[in-house]
Amino acid sequence: MEDTDDLGSNPTDNPALGDLIAASLSRRSVLGGAAAAAAVGFFGGSGLLSAAPAAAATTEAPATRPLLGFTEVPVSSADTLVVPEGYVAEVLIPWGTPLFTSGPAWNKDASNSAAEQAQQVGMHHDGMHYFPLDTEGTQTGLLVVNHEYVDPILLTTDGATPVTPEKVAKALGAHGVTVIKVRKAGSGWKQVDSRFNRRITGTTPMAFSGPVTLENPALQSNNTPMGTLNNCAHGYTPWGTYLACEENWNGYFGTADATWTPTPAEARYGVTRTGFGYNWHLADPRFDLAVNRKELNRFGWVVEIDPFDAASTPVKRTALGRIKHEGATVTEEDGKVVVYSGDDENGDYLYKFVGNAPWRRLRRQGKSPLDEGTLHVARFNADGSGTWMPLVFGTGPLTAANGWVDQADVLLRTRQAADALVATKLDRPEWVAVNPLTKDVFVTLTNGTQGPTPVNPRFPNIYGHIVRVAENRDDATQTAFAWSIFAYAGDPQYLPEGAFVPADQPLFGSPDGLWVDGDGRMWIQTDISNSAQNLASRKYDRIGNNAMLAADPATGEIRRFLTGPRGCEITGVITTPDQKTMFINIQHPGESTPAFGVPTPANPRAVSNWPDYDAGGRPRAATVVIHKVGGGKVGT
Ligand code: FEO
Ligand code: CA
Ligand code: CA
Ligand code: CA
Repeated sequence: MEDTDDLGSNPTDNPALGDLIAASLSRRSVLGGAAAAAAVGFFGGSGLLSAAPAAAATTEAPATRPLLGFTEVPVSSADTLVVPEGYVAEVLIPWGTPLFTSGPAWNKDASNSAAEQAQQVGMHHDGMHYFPLDTEGTQTGLLVVNHEYVDPILLTTDGATPVTPEKVAKALGAHGVTVIKVRKAGSGWKQVDSRFNRRITGTTPMAFSGPVTLENPALQSNNTPMGTLNNCAHGYTPWGTYLACEENWNGYFGTADATWTPTPAEARYGVTRTGFGYNWHLADPRFDLAVNRKELNRFGWVVEIDPFDAASTPVKRTALGRIKHEGATVTEEDGKVVVYSGDDENGDYLYKFVGNAPWRRLRRQGKSPLDEGTLHVARFNADGSGTWMPLVFGTGPLTAANGWVDQADVLLRTRQAADALVATKLDRPEWVAVNPLTKDVFVTLTNGTQGPTPVNPRFPNIYGHIVRVAENRDDATQTAFAWSIFAYAGDPQYLPEGAFVPADQPLFGSPDGLWVDGDGRMWIQTDISNSAQNLASRKYDRIGNNAMLAADPATGEIRRFLTGPRGCEITGVITTPDQKTMFINIQHPGESTPAFGVPTPANPRAVSNWPDYDAGGRPRAATVVIHKVGGGKVGT
């Protein structure tokens, strides 16, 4: 229900450049890793590519000490979480955990009511941040966790059908965000009752800010503004707030009205009468496209949450655009905020918001730094250069003569505005990470079918790759950048998809979660998931369960750090400021599991029952706390 983003909904011909070089690049896609290097000359000679996209080249000085100090774990297909020798992992706040000790206990048969679910940790943990509460940040803090989606088979005792108002309410209560206080306790961590503990769900009241206001006619739906849905990855601001991003929001809507058809703008966001099959519209008219169409326009935004004020109303920051936001990675240039966001769909784009004044000044003036700035979309040129193109009403093609009404219209139809600017189609841009030491920007392109083009060199791209973007570090408003390809995931033994994968690189597929820690160590998390392309391919047979890897951006070395239980994806990663405690999320163990219990030959339809291993229990998403026995930074 989450991965229809494989299909794509970009009908444009962007970029023409891809077509231009497709013929020559298709020759390259049959070349293996070593041979790929030799192909550089071919492209250079063609005059189309002066820089080869195949190398994990770097301009960074290597660290004085090796960044990666742990022993690699092997691939795994076991229903367990494996960390390197000398590390310990413990489960924290699985789905259904009561937010307070006085709250409703978790029922392993999923019989908790909708009202109870709203007082428990949500389902399918995803992006996450840790906000320190003590001075050092090492003993206690707030974990803020996204709950991306629900698996209806697991969520209620009798599964997905029939859809009832109570089931829709429970699903809405399992979505959203959890804010929960955690504290170091002995060698581990535990949750604690606090005034910060809070659930934000699909029905929590929401405010809107920026050019698209609640007075905008497009936002006049039948219900009060509420809820955030499909919160995938996230961001966090230098002023201490959390950004929850709305990704595959289109899939919750549907209608039984066969006469309903989407507008071009709605179609561009993948809105259809059937949605992803949740069928909420059958029990709740809020999600019926024929009844409450404008409710659609309240989704697709980045939502700012103040974790330190449980009474605060989350705010949808419309200046950041309306797309399927994977995440919203915030960095700073010249004191101005810069926010990167991938639009995770096959053939969609990479965005960057740049503040128009230093964020401290804006906050002193009582303004949000996320309201005052310009959204851009990326064009990746064949020569390794790129351009950030502003999405501003009245400029370029975004004029009244071309049917654009105002800046709010440009933002409500962000995808179409970016189409008009001829942005570069990408193989599903997921997380963006900024190296805090070099300010290099990395983007995971998880898989897709946009290639072969310079930035999506493989077709089909079932394995994914990581792109490096080097910005002009002196000027946040500079629109030129340089790019290269940092790493190709996959199995080099299977061509053409495994082309360019070094023979000595650990096997992994579909990079998704991405973060660079304070030492410049890159953490790569995989989501092979139930992607149609991957399931259809035996070319994943040696890769095993999803994993988290660590990489050295300077040397290009990649090492497998952990493997997850069966059917899960690894996502969400953050450490305490001292880097001695790491928090990650295990999402959807036993994804789309058709049966519960222990996966054995006698129970072949069960996929996973991590982490409880209860004979009758259901698999549960959970946060996992990782530390090194005897202390030390994680990864060293
Ligand atoms: Fe929710 Fe694009 O992963
Ligand atoms: Ca993701
Ligand atoms: Ca993914
Ligand atoms: Ca997934």
